[in-house]
Amino acid sequence: MNNIEIKKIDNNNAPYELLLSADPSRENIGRYLKKGNCFAAFGGNNIIGIYILAGKNSNTLEIMNIAVMEDERGKGIGKLLIVDAIKRAKKEGAKKLIVGTGNSSISQLAFYQKCGFRISGIKKDFFIKNYKNLIFEDGIQCKDMIMLEVAL
Ligand SMILES: CC(C)(COP(=O)(O)OP(=O)(O)OC[C@H]1O[C@@H](n2cnc3c(N)ncnc32)[C@H](O)[C@@H]1OP(=O)(O)O)[C@@H](O)C(=O)NCCC(=O)NCCS
Repeated sequence: MNNIEIKKIDNNNAPYELLLSADPSRENIGRYLKKGNCFAAFGGNNIIGIYILAGKNSNTLEIMNIAVMEDERGKGIGKLLIVDAIKRAKKEGAKKLIVGTGNSSISQLAFYQKCGFRISGIKKDFFIKNYKNLIFEDGIQCKDMIMLEVAL
């Protein structure tokens, strides 16, 4: 966790493989990159974490994707990225920061809640309607998007 710097990077240099670990759809990631800005955590010269922040409306910003390199997980880097996103969203005058994850993404639901988010809604059948392939995690089918938010 020493010397980690989080800074904005050019969306054209976004690390797709890392982003794909948070969302299996290349198409979706392309869309997120069109409407959001990419922020990366650097450990030295290497990108070890990433998130995409996009405006939803004048009061709300959304984390569209967040991922930490597999061998760097569990060391507090994800939380650093969330703290950074909160700071930037506040600076932009947003009133809340939102994020969505699948009903089957149990560890991500734990992660977001430990970072201060609360469940705010459910988008029923989101993953059935918007993803070509069925998604299963821990033997649970991913069907619904659980929305979470933190007030700023
Ligand atoms: C989700 C992810 C970004 C979390 O990043 P991370 O660096 O591993 O998380 P941190 O080490 O910063 O953990 C922050 C807090 O969440 C908790 N947490 C993280 N993973 C957890 C898990 N699987 N189960 C329970 N708690 C967990 C940590 O214990 C910590 O809690 P604390 O503040 O009480 O100590 C990372 O695991 C990842 O990249 N996963 C793959 C991509 C992904 O699923 N992205 C999200 C898509 S919705």
